[in-house]
Amino acid sequence: MCGIVGYIGHREAYPIILKGLQRLEYRGYDSAGIALYDGNNIKLSKTKGKVADLKERLENEITTTGNLGIGHTRWATHGIPNDVNSHPHYSNSGDLVIIHNGIIENYEAIKTELIKRGYTFNSDTDTEVLINLIEEVKKKQGVKLGKAVQIALNEVVGAYAIAVFDKNKPNEIVVAKLGSPLAIGVGDEEFFIASDASPFIEFTKNAIYLEDEEMAVVRLGKKIKIRKIKDDSLVNPLMQELKFNLEQIEKGGYEHFMLKEIYEQPHAIRDTYRGRLLAKEGIVRMSGVENHKEKFLNANRIIIVACGTSWHAGLVAEYIFEDIARIPVEVEYASEFRYRNPVITNKDVVIAISQSGETADTLAAIKLAKSHGAFVFGVCNVVGSSIARETDAGAYTHAGPEIGVASTKAFTTQITVLTLIALKLAKEKGAISNSQFHYHLEELELIPEKVEKALKSDEHIKSVAKTYKDAANCLYLGRGYNFPVALEGALKLKEISYIHAEGYPAAEMKHGPIALIDEHMPVFVIATKKGHYEKVVSNIQEIKSRKGKIIAIVTEGDVDVKKLADHTIEIPETIESLSPLLTTIPLQLLSYHIAVMLNKNVDQPRNLAKSVTVE
Ligand code: G6P
Repeated sequence: MCGIVGYIGHREAYPIILKGLQRLEYRGYDSAGIALYDGNNIKLSKTKGKVADLKERLENEITTTGNLGIGHTRWATHGIPNDVNSHPHYSNSGDLVIIHNGIIENYEAIKTELIKRGYTFNSDTDTEVLINLIEEVKKKQGVKLGKAVQIALNEVVGAYAIAVFDKNKPNEIVVAKLGSPLAIGVGDEEFFIASDASPFIEFTKNAIYLEDEEMAVVRLGKKIKIRKIKDDSLVNPLMQELKFNLEQIEKGGYEHFMLKEIYEQPHAIRDTYRGRLLAKEGIVRMSGVENHKEKFLNANRIIIVACGTSWHAGLVAEYIFEDIARIPVEVEYASEFRYRNPVITNKDVVIAISQSGETADTLAAIKLAKSHGAFVFGVCNVVGSSIARETDAGAYTHAGPEIGVASTKAFTTQITVLTLIALKLAKEKGAISNSQFHYHLEELELIPEKVEKALKSDEHIKSVAKTYKDAANCLYLGRGYNFPVALEGALKLKEISYIHAEGYPAAEMKHGPIALIDEHMPVFVIATKKGHYEKVVSNIQEIKSRKGKIIAIVTEGDVDVKKLADHTIEIPETIESLSPLLTTIPLQLLSYHIAVMLNKNVDQPRNLAKSVTVE
């Protein structure tokens, strides 16, 4: 994982890199560093901790002037988070400096060879090995930096997005990519380099996204030339216009990004279905599906691959695809799927779900499915991401940038896209009656205002959160469409408050988790009117008889559960298949408030990262 930023041009590089690193902290935040070229020499400062720690230290340590620089925010893979292992890394001569996002798998062998040739290493990182390999190639073969990087990269196995510069040639930065993202912002006589476009959005709207196995020498006064690392062939740079703005990636008055993103959901869901859901006309318009209709309609089954919260959205989709479109679905953790030799044929449709579009396991699962001839469809949020590019077709969620590590609006917008696909296919197949189809479209159109209404319970949810913030364990129960929401509710709590929580199908409780229930155990139960209500009420009775504390998410106006539960949180009524879009909201808010009350870092929980680009 890790975030990388670079700048070369006429402005001061330091503030751009520092701000850029802060925006990329979602990619990792256990250490950070910056290297600047001040006109004579490289000034480098790095530290364990967050970018804010770096800022504090750096301004006392080095001069921060210079128009060329690179910076890094780390999520440790090789070598524990400490000052020495932080990036940037120097080569032995001190001439070259590198930042790297990824893993060099064969670094041990290369390191042994370099040690034999007299190289020494300060850190435990694979990155320091790479920069010295580049230096060795450059010296031994007498080539320029760009060529040395290319030759060195042809010797390494692994994944990388790198930026390297040479203090003796301070008019260029060499960048390369395989498996980790790298965007180049192209301004007027200036270039920006970053893991995504957020560090340079206020400076330029023009970006080039490197593809895997591509590299570029970003040189002042020259047009960018992109080459294939393997065979040196030139590639035509594809300039893309960035569609988001600065406001979208700032907190906008909210205390945390997570809260902002929870509150953005009505808007985000509307953006997701805008132009696709034409309720009055009774049409679902999705060109990615339309253009490959036959693939979907003739599929033996749909296999959904994803990780984390996206996997939970996949589970919700399983219910809706089978229920409404009558297409068999399997939902797989991408990390398991890729290694378990699954049976995949060209009659399978694989849907890969990913907010970031960069998750390494999901990407690998896609490649595997494609190699077996399956048609692969992507549901991503980040436009132009690796998964969006790797899939045969797809649909964006259009949720806008999601910065909080705990995913919120990505989840509800993924469900929205998947619901639209299911409805479209159901209609094409004749699996749904006209009236039901229209009814679903109308109900879906109403979801944003119902989410708004659900958000109005925030103060009440905060008071519930206060009651349970000191719990050591929590149980989340749901049935049918809301079983995945129980999993997601538990995940949200774990991620940001570090309270142990388990999600379970309500009826499975009696096969194990019921043994855990006593007067100290809060049990969050999704008990909406239209989803196996009576059965869930019976489950609630079972909890009550064992003195568990019951916090129930109920449909507004509910009477029965209110009599049994310790607390209820109401959400507006909708059809069962759309209920996850509403039941999720109070669970997100509950986790948020508990984490805030426990003084946890909500947007950057320990050990986690937003985008997991390593296995
Ligand atoms: C990380 C994030 C999660 C996310 C998961 C999958 O674990 O912290 O929030 O759900 O990756 O990410 P993706 O970008 O593929 O949806």
